[in-house]
Amino acid sequence: MKNSRNYFINLDNKTYLAACSQGPLSWPVATALERYKYDLLERGNPWDLWTEGLEEAKVLFADLVGARRDEVAAGCSVSSLFSSLLSALEYGRRRRIVTSDLEYPNVTYPVLMQRRRGAVVRMIRARGESPELDPEDYAEAVDEDTALVTAIHVATVNGFRQDLRRISEIAHARGALVFSDAYQSAGTVAIDVRREDVDFLSAGSLKWLLGVPGIAFLYVRGELVESLEPVDAGWLSQERPFEFGAEELSYVRTADRFQSGTWSVPSAYAAVEGMRIILEVGPRAIEERIRSLTERAIERIDERGLRTITPRDPSRRGAIVSIIVRDPPAVERRLRDMGIITSARGPVLRLCPHFYNTEDEVVEAVDTISSIAGS
Ligand SMILES: Cc1ncc(COP(=O)(O)O)c(C=O)c1O
Repeated sequence: MKNSRNYFINLDNKTYLAACSQGPLSWPVATALERYKYDLLERGNPWDLWTEGLEEAKVLFADLVGARRDEVAAGCSVSSLFSSLLSALEYGRRRRIVTSDLEYPNVTYPVLMQRRRGAVVRMIRARGESPELDPEDYAEAVDEDTALVTAIHVATVNGFRQDLRRISEIAHARGALVFSDAYQSAGTVAIDVRREDVDFLSAGSLKWLLGVPGIAFLYVRGELVESLEPVDAGWLSQERPFEFGAEELSYVRTADRFQSGTWSVPSAYAAVEGMRIILEVGPRAIEERIRSLTERAIERIDERGLRTITPRDPSRRGAIVSIIVRDPPAVERRLRDMGIITSARGPVLRLCPHFYNTEDEVVEAVDTISSIAGS
């Protein structure tokens, strides 16, 4: 990862361990945001550039997850894309949605809302100190009446990583579709939607993909696209969005049919540059690097007598290492004052190393937490 820190503006002054929340600002992203302002000043309303930028973002996301461009939609958040997807499902004989208590609320609430449309929700619960789920939990819950299974790829609170391929195998054997929220994995592990065999996968740009808030992507398996007509979609989901006075619906034949209205244009400028960095460094190399940094973090946590709820088996964790501390937001604030950026969530403080971090940074952060927690 030689020179990888040069992409970023502030890594000489800060120890940045919070990409699970917001990635650090890079030079290319900062320049892209400036370019957005410049384009406004110079060209006024450059819709051609804006549309090209969004298109480029979808191409890059498709590359990142091993999909085709026509299988990727963009929206403002995973919540809105997922809601659009759910609105295309019809609950006839297959009424069950299987979900888990490890999902981020952006999935949980829209799933619970489907009860008003006739769905029956089956919630499976993670167990153990970590806590974790087992594919067998899905095997027990998914039946011939299941329409959809949601399987978060990497859990937000403890970094537990699921075996999507195995879950897809279980769901598909019973005819159910699989949605995965990959917000906490995209950019940290090599994802291949064909290998994992998921039907839908979504992630946004501001965290590990090094962009800014306001843009997210949804992969929809090509063969399914035309059978799904979202009710919760906007004018950009249609074949002729600029046709005023339209009297018939005509969904675009690509995943764009899950799109809403005008997107966050500056976020798309930033997303392109963030994903370019990830693709240049390489998801596989990033995955290996993160594996060794999280290993080192856990070792140091043990040496310091702290407690982590992150799985120790590297194949079962992503890039989040969660430490139990008293009053996580207060510890986060104290660390920030010392130049160490981390992320508090619920009962834990999360250390989130990305490819640009060093072992020394990770060790120093754990040591500082240990001295704060002990004081
Ligand atoms: C796993 C996961 N999914 C989704 C989100 C955010 O979703 P949305 O794009 O709907 O705001 C987060 C944010 O922390 C997350 O951790």
